[in-house]
Amino acid sequence: MKIQGTPRRSIEIIPGQRTVRILDQTVLPHEIEWRELATLEAVVEAIKVMRVRGAPLIGATAAYGYFFALRDDSSDATVGRAYDQLLATRPTAVNLRWALDRVRRVVTSLAPADRAAAAWAEAGAIGEADVRTNHAIGAHGLELVRAVAHRKAPGSGPLQIMTHCNAGWLGCVDWGTAIAPIYQAYEAGIDVHVWVSETRPRGQGASLTAWELGQHSVPHTLVVDNEAGHLAQRGLVDLMIVGADRVTASGDAANKIGTYLKALAARAHGLPFYVALPVSTIDWTITDGIRDIPIEQRSDREVTHVIGLAADGRRQEVLITPAGTSARNDGFDVTPGGLITGLITEHGVFPASTEGLSLLAAMLGRAKS
Ligand code: MRU
Repeated sequence: MKIQGTPRRSIEIIPGQRTVRILDQTVLPHEIEWRELATLEAVVEAIKVMRVRGAPLIGATAAYGYFFALRDDSSDATVGRAYDQLLATRPTAVNLRWALDRVRRVVTSLAPADRAAAAWAEAGAIGEADVRTNHAIGAHGLELVRAVAHRKAPGSGPLQIMTHCNAGWLGCVDWGTAIAPIYQAYEAGIDVHVWVSETRPRGQGASLTAWELGQHSVPHTLVVDNEAGHLAQRGLVDLMIVGADRVTASGDAANKIGTYLKALAARAHGLPFYVALPVSTIDWTITDGIRDIPIEQRSDREVTHVIGLAADGRRQEVLITPAGTSARNDGFDVTPGGLITGLITEHGVFPASTEGLSLLAAMLGRAKS
């Protein structure tokens, strides 16, 4: 997608080098800063502090981290150690494990001398596939968006889509998952308007989704997270689409904290609630999202403080609570499949249920474990 009219990706190979640069998402939207990543340690740090974030992008970046480790030492010990180090960066998005498994599968069958080149190629393949995958998610989602738009009474204004967090191109290599159908609907000339939910505490909606939609001139309005029920009740939402970090084989979906409340509001008001995801976000090994999906616990400082631009143009962090207030910071919540209208994947739209996921598994020719 574009930054100031120029096509960019959230992670890019630096031409002529075996290194990558990432758009640092900790300083957006106030600064556009590209950072070179050239070591395992730099990748670990970038994922941990969320310079890169979003399930597909975490996986794609980790694959390059694996390459950097093997470039420096391609022994069996490093194959194991680097895998563990990268896997420990963030617990909820299963795309991380998926991407690392892909690289490990390729390199373990090779002689140490051939491992780094193979890891580089595999990381590149993961990134390229992510772009195609998300474009396909966008195309399948576009059909749903069209259907909802057709049902809308003529003259009743734009199609109102609510999203949460950032499941746009910034959370992927390109296009996004939940936002891909929105970009494609906008490009197809459908009159869309997006309610961008702020996404406290880190504000990925406010800082990232609002920024990337703005770069593409997609009409949008920022709302605080607590607006979802109110807007749905007043008939000001036609459709909700969110991303996911891990979906179980029974259709439960973990996504950024606050997603579940939106799903409840959608159900209460009879609104379609879709989760958009690549197949790499499905954890086929688990069936109970509430019991089995690990929920990241983040620092209480993200709740007690906010970061923004001060009047002097500098980024500043300020305390918003009485000093010493303790806070809890669950990074994600789980929306049971029963509240999800459908899962938009690169292979089509599937019911968020054991039957729906079995259908998808059969289509992929994969045995569910
Ligand atoms: O903590 P984050 O910002 O990595 O969480 C991101 C989300 O929850 C996204 O909705 C999800 O990863 C999908 S990104 C295409």
